Amino acid sequence: MSANYKHEPFTDFSIEKNKKDFEQALAFVQTELGKEYPVIIGGERIKTEEQIISYNPAVIDEVIGTVSKANQALAEKAMQTALSSFKSWSNQNPSERATILFRAAAIIRRRKHEFSSYLVKEAGKPWSEADGDTSEAIDFLEYYARQMIELCSGKEVQSRTGEINQYTYIPLGVGVIISPFNFPLAIMAGTAAAAIVSGNTILLKPANTTPVIAAKFVEVLEEAGLPAGVINYIPGNGSEIGDYLIDHPKTRFVSFTGSREIGCRIYERAAKVQPGQIWLKRVIAEMGGKDTVVVDRDADLDLAADSIVKSAFGYSGQKCSAGSRAVVHQDVYDEVLEKAVALTQGITVGNPEKLSHYMGPVIDQASYNKVMKYIEIGKQEGKLRVGGEGDDSKGYFIQPTIFSDLDEKSRLMQEEIFGPVVGFCKARDFDHMMEIANNTDYGLTGALISNDRHHIQRAKKEFHVGNLYFNRVCTGAIVGYQPFGGFNMSGTDSKAGGPDYLILHMQAKTMSEML
Ligand code: SER
Repeated sequence: MSANYKHEPFTDFSIEKNKKDFEQALAFVQTELGKEYPVIIGGERIKTEEQIISYNPAVIDEVIGTVSKANQALAEKAMQTALSSFKSWSNQNPSERATILFRAAAIIRRRKHEFSSYLVKEAGKPWSEADGDTSEAIDFLEYYARQMIELCSGKEVQSRTGEINQYTYIPLGVGVIISPFNFPLAIMAGTAAAAIVSGNTILLKPANTTPVIAAKFVEVLEEAGLPAGVINYIPGNGSEIGDYLIDHPKTRFVSFTGSREIGCRIYERAAKVQPGQIWLKRVIAEMGGKDTVVVDRDADLDLAADSIVKSAFGYSGQKCSAGSRAVVHQDVYDEVLEKAVALTQGITVGNPEKLSHYMGPVIDQASYNKVMKYIEIGKQEGKLRVGGEGDDSKGYFIQPTIFSDLDEKSRLMQEEIFGPVVGFCKARDFDHMMEIANNTDYGLTGALISNDRHHIQRAKKEFHVGNLYFNRVCTGAIVGYQPFGGFNMSGTDSKAGGPDYLILHMQAKTMSEML
């Protein structure tokens, strides 16, 4: 599948030249800050009175850009444009559609540090996290383009004497893409690219905290030759244009990544057949996680502590894949906890523009308040071992925080926090570890740190998550290598970056002709 595909290598910032290049890109992006980004419908730039202001979460008075905000009238205009563009785009040769993605990947690759610098500035990502995000965006473009070429002629079916049968995939129609702040380039680009390369036209509503990087991506697609009207850029409020478009009878599918609350709301609304609607809407929903790093008695305890800390605090824990729970065998619990606390004490927190800062801010005030509230809950439910402090005077900074001695049913062990907080819980034996690992509503990622082959085999059957890892972190899935998506309340298990993903944006057509 997907011949010649290799994931985009990450940048090694210990090499002086890479460091210099990145610093230059950051300096360039600094000169670009504060620009205006209009709504884009059918290639037309539309400035609106109402604006979304995108701020740097690490320097809260620094404006990244001022973005026009679509209202219902503009959302309707975008829908009509996408419907009319669908007629020609859906008929365009799939390999030509794929070529536009290859060109977009090449443009982003050439300007990789510039895109990553926007992620540092707009999303508060440390350099390596930003570099990973940009690399993943390139991967999605490369991977889905190849996948489309492979799907062009459909799949093999049998034909009897005197007939010829064909099985092909055709596009669905107009899709609404609602993308998250936490991978504001990769997930936004991946969900958009999958939809358009398979012949659909889309309305892209990026997260309100990170709309500028999405506008930059739309510019890249235009430069790569995407016809006007295939992607329509409509930032705006969920309650105003989100609901309107989800309910719209001409919406054919919705691709959403974000919270469980909004995902469930979209799923429910999209299920209602509206007057004039002649199909059942399809919903691809990637929602939350409450992901666990499980540490066996027979494990490398340094690796365990390192995996817990990196899974918990990478990008300040703002990943649905983040390991926000550590479930540790009672015989090694104290030692692993101690090692994790020591590692956490060494984490530097601050403006992610500085390479030496391992952790930056959380995304906004609401997120800061929510995480700080969970820290207070943690103090009631368990023992605060390290961190627990926040400072939102200049940016939304929260110290990496560990709570221990939590009950397996405590709120800290059950609810998604989406911040730099990890809870430790003690397990009696391997049965108990698997029981705790599976005791949430979610089922996205998990890791087992173990040298016990029998337990690894058991976890493969019993640990019910969409992405299961052994002896490593539970974050950082790579496109085409570890297709990503979860079970239960984590979403529809659509497996982004996997061999079945594009088909979710298409419908299969069987044709049988008598010879
Ligand atoms: N794909 C990311 C990861 O695996 C999360 O969205 O960490």
